[in-house]
Amino acid sequence: MSRALITGGAGFIGSHLVERLISRGDHVTVLDNLSTGRADNLAAVQQHPNFSMVEGSVLDAGLVERLVADAEVVYHLAAAVGVDWVLRHPLRSLETNIQGTEHVLRACAERGLRVLIASTSEVYGKNNKDALAEDDDRVLGSARLSRWFYASAKAIDEAFALAYWHERRLPVTVVRLFNTVGPRQTGVYGMVVPRFVRWALRGEPLRVYGDGEQTRCFTNVHDVVRALVALTDTPSAAGEIFNIGQPSEIRIVDLAKRVVELCESVSEVKLVPYDADEAYGERAAGYEDMRRRVPNADKLFEFTGFRPSIGLDQTLREVIDYEMGRLEATTRS
Ligand SMILES: NC(=O)c1ccc[n+]([C@@H]2O[C@H](COP(=O)([O-])OP(=O)(O)OC[C@H]3O[C@@H](n4cnc5c(N)ncnc54)[C@H](O)[C@@H]3O)[C@@H](O)[C@H]2O)c1
Repeated sequence: MSRALITGGAGFIGSHLVERLISRGDHVTVLDNLSTGRADNLAAVQQHPNFSMVEGSVLDAGLVERLVADAEVVYHLAAAVGVDWVLRHPLRSLETNIQGTEHVLRACAERGLRVLIASTSEVYGKNNKDALAEDDDRVLGSARLSRWFYASAKAIDEAFALAYWHERRLPVTVVRLFNTVGPRQTGVYGMVVPRFVRWALRGEPLRVYGDGEQTRCFTNVHDVVRALVALTDTPSAAGEIFNIGQPSEIRIVDLAKRVVELCESVSEVKLVPYDADEAYGERAAGYEDMRRRVPNADKLFEFTGFRPSIGLDQTLREVIDYEMGRLEATTRS
């Protein structure tokens, strides 16, 4: 049993992590400014005596220090998430993703606290080799393009974390999350699975950008959360970076078709050029979509004995059930 602070705990991944820690008897405090997270996500633990929520920002250094002082382990998940969101709000996103992380690391370093920092597979940029391992190169486009700001900010976070490990022996672990999917993920920053599911449930066309041949690997949020907890429970993971993801690939056009099948929907799957969509249109000139990004998660297995294994169909069914529930609730109200 320990006392955990989870920044971004009202978000998609954070709220699942909260539930897992509470269920094993830990005390959990969430720090979240509810910018993309929702209090609803924490409904299942809201009344639990081991749970508390503080609405505030990781940009408030004093608040971060006070909350860290009460914790034994910190999971830092708060961030402006995803390439699309950062493209739309570059300044605020950079502040959150760089200064926010710095505040958390500094406060943890003062107390030598165990801390986990959430980074992203985006740091690999355009490197499209078969299975990306933690030491593989970063391959990025022009530094002028805001398309790369998310990757750049998260890479700075990683560098900060490693510097704290090397110079202050802060027991910090960095995780690079690959596409994570499950209930509660919002579609607002362009996440493909919730968007496809919502379109299919409403019988609207599923819009697939480009030729649809680009592939993605999707990891179930419950697997991701198990990996996060396993890593913080593993002392030898301090000072290390880990990929978290599973390597089976699916073409986006096939994903769209599978969502239509599982939803028993009448929706058609439509290929559209990137610049046909208003959201992509405004920055299509500099936009590059990854053809593929496949994780090698052997290191996670070596250190923890855990490997993500939940299959895509199960994950899609979980998202469909969740989205159907939300749709029914909206129609009722
Ligand atoms: N979902 C994915 O596929 C994925 C992939 C790679 C990395 N990640 C990383 O995982 C972490 C969690 O992402 P998520 O998918 O759950 O997204 P999310 O948007 O649901 O969660 C982020 C949370 O941080 C909160 N937040 C944002 N700015 C804040 C601030 N200044 N102070 C306090 N809270 C703030 C938001 O309200 C939200 O609850 C992020 O660090 C993200 O970069 C996610």
